[in-house]
Amino acid sequence: MKITAKELRQKWFDFYKSKQHAIIRSSSLIPENDPTVLFTTAGMHPLVPYLMGAKHPAGKRLANVQKCVRTGDIDDVGDNSHCTFFEMLGNWSLGDYFKKEQIEWSYEFLTSKKYLGIPKTRLAVSVFEGDSDCPRDEESAGYWLKCGIPKERIFYLPKANNWWGPAGTTGPCGPDTEMFYVSTAPDCSPKCSPACDCGKYLEIWNDVFMEYNKTADGKYEQLKQKNVDTGMGLERTLVVLNGKKSVYDTDLFVPIISKIEELSGKKYNSKDASRPMRIIADHIRTAVFMLGDDRGITPSNVDQGYVLRRLIRRAIRYAKALDLEQGAVVKIAQAVIDVYKDVYKEIADNSQLIIAELTKEEERFEKTLKAGLKEFDKLVGYIQNGIISGKACFKLYDTYGFPIEMTEELAIERGLKINRDDFDKAYAEHQAKSQAGAQAKFKGGLADNTEATARLHTATHLMHKALKQVLTDKVAQRGSNITEERLRFDFSFDRKVEDAELREVEKIVNQAIEANVQVVCTEMTVDEAKQKGAIGLFESKYGEKVKVYSMDKYSIEICGGPHANKTGELGKFVITKEESSSAGVRRIKAVLK
Ligand code: SER
Repeated sequence: MKITAKELRQKWFDFYKSKQHAIIRSSSLIPENDPTVLFTTAGMHPLVPYLMGAKHPAGKRLANVQKCVRTGDIDDVGDNSHCTFFEMLGNWSLGDYFKKEQIEWSYEFLTSKKYLGIPKTRLAVSVFEGDSDCPRDEESAGYWLKCGIPKERIFYLPKANNWWGPAGTTGPCGPDTEMFYVSTAPDCSPKCSPACDCGKYLEIWNDVFMEYNKTADGKYEQLKQKNVDTGMGLERTLVVLNGKKSVYDTDLFVPIISKIEELSGKKYNSKDASRPMRIIADHIRTAVFMLGDDRGITPSNVDQGYVLRRLIRRAIRYAKALDLEQGAVVKIAQAVIDVYKDVYKEIADNSQLIIAELTKEEERFEKTLKAGLKEFDKLVGYIQNGIISGKACFKLYDTYGFPIEMTEELAIERGLKINRDDFDKAYAEHQAKSQAGAQAKFKGGLADNTEATARLHTATHLMHKALKQVLTDKVAQRGSNITEERLRFDFSFDRKVEDAELREVEKIVNQAIEANVQVVCTEMTVDEAKQKGAIGLFESKYGEKVKVYSMDKYSIEICGGPHANKTGELGKFVITKEESSSAGVRRIKAVLK
């Protein structure tokens, strides 16, 4: 390996530090307060407010490595380049430098011996050709020419190729200029260009000049400031720099693939083994990052949990195709953890939880498969025309978590067909519903700003702390929904909370209420909050000042409010219900009387 993932990340940081950028940490994979997408799909995503003009506490020049998930191309995973999880090296100018500096720096980082050292003869770029929304980008082309990229390797392409964003339906976007490594493959046609995907031009970096905001009515308006947003896929760049064929040959994947080889006794290069191995490695890697995230999710039938479940079950299905035994995916997950535990602290910290969740999901899936197989056999008894209806397939899928591919395979074994079109329709409807569900959920939080709701919000803080005391410090908030009548609080915990424990939590909260302490709001940096032992989500705040609500020794938490003034205003705290919310997540409902 000429350059490892670790070295590439480090070069990125060193380079941007030398250009006076602040290095910020990767945000969570689960977007905060953004109902338009389920996962963080690019480094710019958590930065949208700042691209729109809000002041970022770390300054106007930022760089990082962001964890990203994109599952739109899940069926392509297994080829040379598609992954559902990837790391994106990114840098940003928030209304500071613009095209000239960014292009000169991109050229320097790519070609300088100190950094990537790519010969300039191997570089090509594309720029935006212009349309009614935004003019042709002669300016960027001019800077590339000055750097030494010859005219014939500067391609003008339309919006489909050279425009980026918004990440959801509305928001910051703009024309981009992309950089490609020119492979030694011959031109695929006289018109061969970076737009044709023939493999001659390998994309390594995308510089977006974000000066527009796409509005809900589809218009592009000028942003308050001109921004730069760039993204370089870590895995793909490693492929190019090391002259490898696929992302699975990089040092990020080799140990994972080797583990699968060892467990299966099959060779990665042998016929029929490489694609399943790649899919297993990809899906388990993504699952590890989802489970291990600061806002970690667990497998479920809706929203992000549904995507996670699908990935795990798909991996298990391919593991079966390789004759791997039950428990193998957990061992593979351990190999993934080993690759990343020194880079992402949350993966190390949550490794036990990751393993426990995967083990449980595998067990559940085994049961599901057994039950689903019975159902399938029953169903087959009724088939008259040799075709299993889309509705029946969807029922197997929805009720038994039975993957459609498996239904299809079983059908073929029995000389039957399935109505895939109808299944896809039912599936798309279900997806639309779970997207809507995600929106509703993310609206969560407080239903209103009345005093009754604020009191229950204060009680939630006290209860959160009490749960940590009574159960384990690892209890972490997974959701909260508060109305005037009751609070509802979801948190990570592995088993039912016993009655005695619930009573103990009530007792602690009621003691805090009786103590009638002041609810104090202070502004401080995230680091200070951490030092004081505040609970709350720290990532994506980047040293910015945050509000911290404390109630004497009873609670200290990062939060936007509102709250009661004194705990004595709360009345008597009573837990009315404790139940499972999804795998590994418990839900408590409580009231103030
Ligand atoms: N947002 C752009 C991308 O995802 C550049 O970071 O490619």
